[in-house]
Amino acid sequence: MGRATLVALLLCLFAKALVVKAEDPYLFFEWNVTYGTIAPLGVPQQGILINGQFPGPRINCTSNNNIVVNVFNQLDEPFLFTWVGVQQRKNSWQDGTLGTMCPILPGKNFTYHFQVKDQIGSYFYFPATGLQRAAGGIGALNVHSRDLIPVPFDRPTDEYNVLVGDWYNKGHKTLKNILDTGRSIGRPDGIQINGRSAKVGDNIEPLFTMEPGKTYRYRVCNVGLKTSINFRIQGHTLKLVEIEGSHTIQNIYDSLDVHVGQCLSVLATANQEPKDYYFVASSRFTKMPLFSVGIIRYTNQKGPASPILPMAPPENLEGIAWSINQFRSFRWNLTASAARPNPQGSYHYGQINITRTLKLVNSATQVGGKLRYAINGVSHIDPSTPLKLAEYFGVPDKVFQYNLVKDDALATNNLVTTIAPSVVNATFRNFVEIIFENHEKTIQTWNLDGYSFFAVAIEPGTWSPEKRKNYNLLDAISRHNIQVYPGSWAAIMTTLDNAGMWNLRSDMWERVYLGQQLYFSVLSPARSLRDEYNLPDNQPLCGIVEKLPLPAPYTA
Ligand SMILES: *[C@@H]1O[C@H](CO)[C@@H](O)[C@H](O)[C@H]1NC(C)=O
Ligand SMILES: *[C@@H]1O[C@H](CO)[C@@H](O)[C@H](O)[C@H]1NC(C)=O
Ligand SMILES: *[C@@H]1O[C@H](CO)[C@@H](O)[C@H](O)[C@H]1NC(C)=O
Ligand SMILES: *[C@@H]1O[C@H](CO)[C@@H](O)[C@H](O)[C@H]1NC(C)=O
Ligand SMILES: *[C@@H]1O[C@H](CO)[C@@H](O)[C@H](O)[C@H]1NC(C)=O
Ligand SMILES: *[C@@H]1O[C@H](CO)[C@@H](O)[C@H](O)[C@H]1NC(C)=O
Repeated sequence: MGRATLVALLLCLFAKALVVKAEDPYLFFEWNVTYGTIAPLGVPQQGILINGQFPGPRINCTSNNNIVVNVFNQLDEPFLFTWVGVQQRKNSWQDGTLGTMCPILPGKNFTYHFQVKDQIGSYFYFPATGLQRAAGGIGALNVHSRDLIPVPFDRPTDEYNVLVGDWYNKGHKTLKNILDTGRSIGRPDGIQINGRSAKVGDNIEPLFTMEPGKTYRYRVCNVGLKTSINFRIQGHTLKLVEIEGSHTIQNIYDSLDVHVGQCLSVLATANQEPKDYYFVASSRFTKMPLFSVGIIRYTNQKGPASPILPMAPPENLEGIAWSINQFRSFRWNLTASAARPNPQGSYHYGQINITRTLKLVNSATQVGGKLRYAINGVSHIDPSTPLKLAEYFGVPDKVFQYNLVKDDALATNNLVTTIAPSVVNATFRNFVEIIFENHEKTIQTWNLDGYSFFAVAIEPGTWSPEKRKNYNLLDAISRHNIQVYPGSWAAIMTTLDNAGMWNLRSDMWERVYLGQQLYFSVLSPARSLRDEYNLPDNQPLCGIVEKLPLPAPYTA
């Protein structure tokens, strides 16, 4: 990492020294992806390392920076990184999902090039291929506000990234093999926090340190495979300041739920007796409770952490009600700036007419004796030609059929599962409402690439149009991930103004791998560089487009 950081630093200084009306700054990274032994739960296993590290290097950048990451795949399998929450404006080419890109083959390298355009916030990256997310290759991605943009809280003394998630002691190939043979990967073995786990009383090195009197920002992401997590810091309250790129009303919490794929930032002040305190992460809504702790140490510490841990929130139905209430307390700070100087609330999403409503229902079924997951009865598979490339080369009908998923779940029999590449044709700039209805007994989380959306409602029961009167049309959080509790629904709204091929997926990795995902094809009728970049020169081609002539590039 040293060299990459140095290059970035030099370039930064260079850019600052020149500042004419220079292009947005560049950050360069060179990443070697290899196998190596890790032991997040104390059991040594094969992990995926980036430049020898797990978790991988943190990308620390500022709005509008150009990020260039040259990835060398030294594994024995195809590989791709996806950049959660990075909106990839006009640039689904770099999204790193199998519907948009050919994977990087073993022994090959590929250079991602993207811009964190007009966004801020706490995000992460992970391997989108196979079950590799279960083995590592995960790291934090922080996007800071530009110097001129006011941030609605004092600059913290330091920032800590916390990547927390459930963990399996089985390797990713074993897990993939279990799914390939039609079975479930079952329950995770534990919870890891930044690659480690511990229980109360273990003699462990601190995860973080705090100076007395100082305030720190903790950016917490759930990078696990299926388990919602609650976290808390013994003896300290948490002031919520940001969720996936939105500045929130700064409420104070004793503990927060963070569901799979979600990130949020809290401020914690070292205003207690100087000693060690436990950071606690525990599972939510699971039959077998799991938890792990880490140490936060005061720099003038005088003693060990108390063995008495802060209370976990309730479980079961009461716990779901607790968690829904907490979701409802998350509000957009309408007067704070986001990536741009104009206040967040100047975008009046509640006054835009809905042009399309999609109601999506998840299901689990056996097809030919094998477990599959679906959306409105369609279980996605990745074809060997990425969907985006098939469309760009003008041969979509050789690879997939549009609109197997119908807008209204009622129009489909959710039990009959079609296994096929799933692409929904969307109209550029439509303002859409998506309802996720969960009839299953497990919690779901959903991630949309390419956009952030307003998370306007979560309620128990089933959705109907009258429920719209319960939407938060004023100050809902704009984000990219939402949870849907068992027997509940959630509603989101967004403008499909980013042309490209965008993955809407469950963030439960077993479900994604076995089909609970689809792609939105959002084509700009103009086929213009104003709306979408051209296929990058370095993009590897595969499948049926490999030998086809390159289409004429988009022009101005
Ligand atoms: C990546 O590995 C190559 C050799 O395999 C080495 O020369 C290079 O320095 C490594 N890069 C980093 C950033 O570790
Ligand atoms: C991350 O970036 C921000 C903004 O550029 C900077 O203030 C901060 O010092 C950086 N942190 C690290 C650890 O490099
Ligand atoms: C692979 O890495 C080399 C430099 O190490 C670079 O010149 C080349 O562009 C990279 N290939 C791709 C496809 O990005
Ligand atoms: C919202 O942001 C404004 C502007 O930065 C700030 O002054 C205010 O304290 C924030 N309000 C809350 C409730 O967090
Ligand atoms: C929304 O729809 C209503 C009723 O159809 C119409 O009167 C209004 O002008 C529309 N608003 C916008 C902003 O298009
Ligand atoms: C997709 O939608 C656009 C506009 O909404 C339409 O022109 C086009 O024919 C549709 N394509 C398919 C394959 O449905």
